[in-house]
Amino acid sequence: MTKKGIKQRINKLKKEINYHRYLYHVLDTREISDAVLDSLKHELYRLEQQNPEFITEDSPTQRVGGEALDKFKKVYHKVKMLSLEDVFSTGEFEDWEKRIKKVSPSGKYEYFGELKIDGFAISLNYENGLLKFASTRGDGEIGEDVTKNIKTIESIPLALNIHEDENVINDDMNIYIKSIKKLLERGNLEIRGEVYMSRKVFLEINKERKKKGEPLYANPRNTAAGSIRQLDPKIAASRKLEFLPYAIITDFGQDGHKDEHNILKILGFKRDKYAGIFSNISEVESFWKDILKRREKLAYQIDGLVISVNDNATFKKLGVVGKAPRGAVAFKFPAEESTTKVEDISVQIGRTGALTPVAHFLPVLIGGTIVTRASLHNEDEIRRLDLKIGDTVIIKRSGDVIPKVVSVLKNLRVGKEMDFKMPKNCPFCGGKIERKEGEVILKCVNKKCSAKHREALRHFTSKKAFDIVGLGPQILNKLADEGLISDFADIFSLREGDLLPIERFAERSASKLIEAIQQKKEITLAKFIYSLGIQHVGEETALTLAGSTSAEIKSQKSKVTVDEVSSILKSFSLEDLEKIQDIGPKVAESIHIYFNDINNKVLLEKLNNLNIIINIPKVNLKKYIFSAKVFVLTGELEGFTRDKAKEVIRSFGGEISSSVSKKTDYLLAGENHGSKYDKAKELEVKIINEKDFLKMINS
Ligand code: IVH
Repeated sequence: MTKKGIKQRINKLKKEINYHRYLYHVLDTREISDAVLDSLKHELYRLEQQNPEFITEDSPTQRVGGEALDKFKKVYHKVKMLSLEDVFSTGEFEDWEKRIKKVSPSGKYEYFGELKIDGFAISLNYENGLLKFASTRGDGEIGEDVTKNIKTIESIPLALNIHEDENVINDDMNIYIKSIKKLLERGNLEIRGEVYMSRKVFLEINKERKKKGEPLYANPRNTAAGSIRQLDPKIAASRKLEFLPYAIITDFGQDGHKDEHNILKILGFKRDKYAGIFSNISEVESFWKDILKRREKLAYQIDGLVISVNDNATFKKLGVVGKAPRGAVAFKFPAEESTTKVEDISVQIGRTGALTPVAHFLPVLIGGTIVTRASLHNEDEIRRLDLKIGDTVIIKRSGDVIPKVVSVLKNLRVGKEMDFKMPKNCPFCGGKIERKEGEVILKCVNKKCSAKHREALRHFTSKKAFDIVGLGPQILNKLADEGLISDFADIFSLREGDLLPIERFAERSASKLIEAIQQKKEITLAKFIYSLGIQHVGEETALTLAGSTSAEIKSQKSKVTVDEVSSILKSFSLEDLEKIQDIGPKVAESIHIYFNDINNKVLLEKLNNLNIIINIPKVNLKKYIFSAKVFVLTGELEGFTRDKAKEVIRSFGGEISSSVSKKTDYLLAGENHGSKYDKAKELEVKIINEKDFLKMINS
């Protein structure tokens, strides 16, 4: 790569990492797995090390973790909470040793190895032996005061005492114990470690949630982090979190990292029983292999080992590179793959009737998340894998958040495995199934298919359509089972009394739900069209179609009935529809069929009689400011959510695209913008910030 190419790659990596860092550390959500983010960081780190002239202050390698949220008091870390450099192979680990030996050839090279728990870093501060405050890492310099929540963790002593332990106490230790005793009487002691949730507790919590019909948590790490950042300590208390310390920050005269671990044990903390001294690199490597084998059986999730130069004087001499100490490294485990048994293969149906086979497994924890099912996509894929029900399969989650069946371990077959065949008729309605030429997807073609119909109900009430909060899929199914709704118009005629026979509804929630439904009887034209679930008509097409429809509305009314809208849409011929920009023949055909179908006509009439009001966005001069202009959004805006900004752009006649191309007119870039920014620069697309945007819409 040329220097220019390297710089460009570094910039792209920085933006991408920053975007995902914000999602993960600040918002506790994610789009990519840890393994993927780690590998991006790793590449950036390597490139920066090889080209130090490109290291900038704002590089993700120069900071740690996320920003503190406002809801907790801020705590300043007197000693920064650093992070660790990752290595992923023995080769990289050996390179690390070569580097440190070069930096400080006279050092003492004995290593301390310990487990790297996949949890949440916490700093504990004891004053005169009493736990005074506990804080999160935050950005490494300023964290959040989470003392109340941390105090709910039983494995954290609220007051420190010396627990005499013959195994570790020898003459050397006696000197340390004396100085620790002094600090406990008068002085401060800072201890850092990892808060985590055991696999067992995590599985129990999810089991309970499943019983109650609540959404399941994704993994122990996020569940632990979420519990610590709750304002109500009762929640943390109910979560049975644990704490494993890994360092004493306060100087008590320790010679090495091992001494800190011994003192921590004497002070009554939990201890990593695998941790210890390894006298050379090959010992560390066998430790790594050994733990890798045990990994799945441990009570908690780990994502690697932490290997530190044990001797404190050498460790200090080695100093800090970026925000990581040179004398320690995270020796990570490879991206996770796991095996499990396929218990069943079911068939799911989508709103458009597409049938998808789904494999159901015995639950496995993989790549940090419980996996119980994975889409098999289509019949051809099942044939390609040669998969049978009862087979043991390899599932992979690396690189991709969506788990995937990689292959079948055919040697483990016992002869009882069963072939799976896609059904000849729709498993939900018994209707005819068709596979169009050249397509791999099977579809149920019965217009009245109940399962298609339930998907349609879900779509109708979803956020981007009528947005009826509280009417989730489970409740919709229940209402359909009870015969209370047979099409989506019925939702609006539900009365409180209808809901009472349904379990889980106390009187209050029934009345609330009815209120929520009645409040949603007004909708914008585009959302209305989208809500109908016309095949191939997604959000963008619905907007386009809404534009053409509103142009036909007489006397620029701002509110119209369903009748008015549907008669305009029905009046469009196939040719008219194809003439609309961005609507191709396939989409045009689907729209045309929809509005000329007798069943849909009945449904639309029903909606009309329920007095659904459709709002037509005002056409004013401003509307033309962005007329036919294509916008792409990146990063976070202060004054708008993404959806709001999109709405504003559309209301001024603009269009939204998800990726930057030559056709893009403006890139609206907020804070922490992603790789789209570079692409826009490359293609010389006009980049505007929030201020510019505000100016444009207010001018
Ligand atoms: S030592 C100098 N030891 O990993 C950094 N960290 O990637 C001090 N972690 O923020 C970290 N187990 O949250 C250390 N035994 C262990 C650890 C450990 C888990 C976490 C910790 C830290 C992150 C660094």
